[in-house]
Amino acid sequence: MGNIITLYKRDQVQVACSAVMALSSVGMLYFVARQYNRSSQGLGRGTRKPELFAHLGRSVRLTSREQDLLNYVSFPDELSPFLCDIRGMDSVLVQITVGLHEPLLYAKESKEVKTCHALFHGPPGTGKTMCARALAKSCNVPLLNVTPSTLKDKLYGESEQRVEAILTFAQKIAPVIIFIDEIETVLGETKVGGNEHNAALVGMIRSMLSGNFQFGHGVIVIASTNRKDRVDGPTLRRLPLQIEFPKPDQKDRREILQSLLDQEGRVASSEDVSALAQITEGYSNRDLEFIVNYAARLASSRSDFTKRGLSIREYQKKLHEQGVPPLSSIKKRDITKEDFLRAFRQRGDPDPRILE
Ligand SMILES: Nc1ncnc2c1ncn2[C@@H]1O[C@H](COP(=O)(O)OP(=O)(O)OP(=O)(O)O)[C@@H](O)[C@H]1O
Ligand SMILES: [Mg+2]
Repeated sequence: MGNIITLYKRDQVQVACSAVMALSSVGMLYFVARQYNRSSQGLGRGTRKPELFAHLGRSVRLTSREQDLLNYVSFPDELSPFLCDIRGMDSVLVQITVGLHEPLLYAKESKEVKTCHALFHGPPGTGKTMCARALAKSCNVPLLNVTPSTLKDKLYGESEQRVEAILTFAQKIAPVIIFIDEIETVLGETKVGGNEHNAALVGMIRSMLSGNFQFGHGVIVIASTNRKDRVDGPTLRRLPLQIEFPKPDQKDRREILQSLLDQEGRVASSEDVSALAQITEGYSNRDLEFIVNYAARLASSRSDFTKRGLSIREYQKKLHEQGVPPLSSIKKRDITKEDFLRAFRQRGDPDPRILE
């Protein structure tokens, strides 16, 4: 009898154990399914959604693909400068103001005001990206930055799905500016032997630029290129506003140099700045930025070792022992002719004798 009771109890324990295991398996399955569902709905990941909701003043549901795109969005607070703070590019600024800034501001208020997609073209480093960012900031709209690597994927069908996500995402967060950099690499003159996969992607991007996707719907595309001659005809026709970014002339170079010095909080003699503007024919805005930044660094670091009689080896040892010195310890010294000269030579440019 005692044995029978023991056996009966053992069975009960086994049944209870099995029930617990079955329940925990169901629980696990439910948890996994829920997590999968949340991530496919774009709900389960730590993202920049708080910034998006704060900007929109409401919440939106995003798919996981759309949520990934948040990593490529800059909100107005994160952008700089304002268009009104840009110097040395007046002819470009006139075109941006008339063709984009004013219409975008009005279009935000009334869907009756139409504007169009635009192409920024010109040599590297002439301020195309900076102006697109400044436009978004000045219109208080986010900028979705799309590069060829964001679009292209080796996996069949993946690129198309990304473009699809860009379209739906942009509509959800509109008004927004989509900035497509190096457009010629995705919408360049059709190559002989281009595959179907590429053709589908090209078709989708063109649909993004088509008439029914205009700022009336709160989305505008600005494409950018250094090689307008390589952008194909159908794409150019969909980008009717084309703004050329030339290399700066002497007057503009002087203004850009002065503006860069002001941004750095640096002083340099007016004669040096004028002489620098004179000898930098053919330089882009980025080249000028390099000269000012490098000269500014030289002005700061010279006080730290050369002036204190330390060799570079001794200074390196000091840096190694101290770790990174606090930023506040960097002295914003005036930039001298010698600093400009050394920065100039650092680029491997011909000797700027005019400065000497
Ligand atoms: N007018 C300006 N004043 C001060 N800095 C400028 C000016 N224009 C451009 N810059 C600076 O020069 C650098 C290059 O500008 P930007 O990246 O906008 O050029 P880009 O035309 O987009 O170049 P790329 O074609 O290589 O993409 C940036 O760091 C930008 O801040
Ligand atoms: Mg750029």
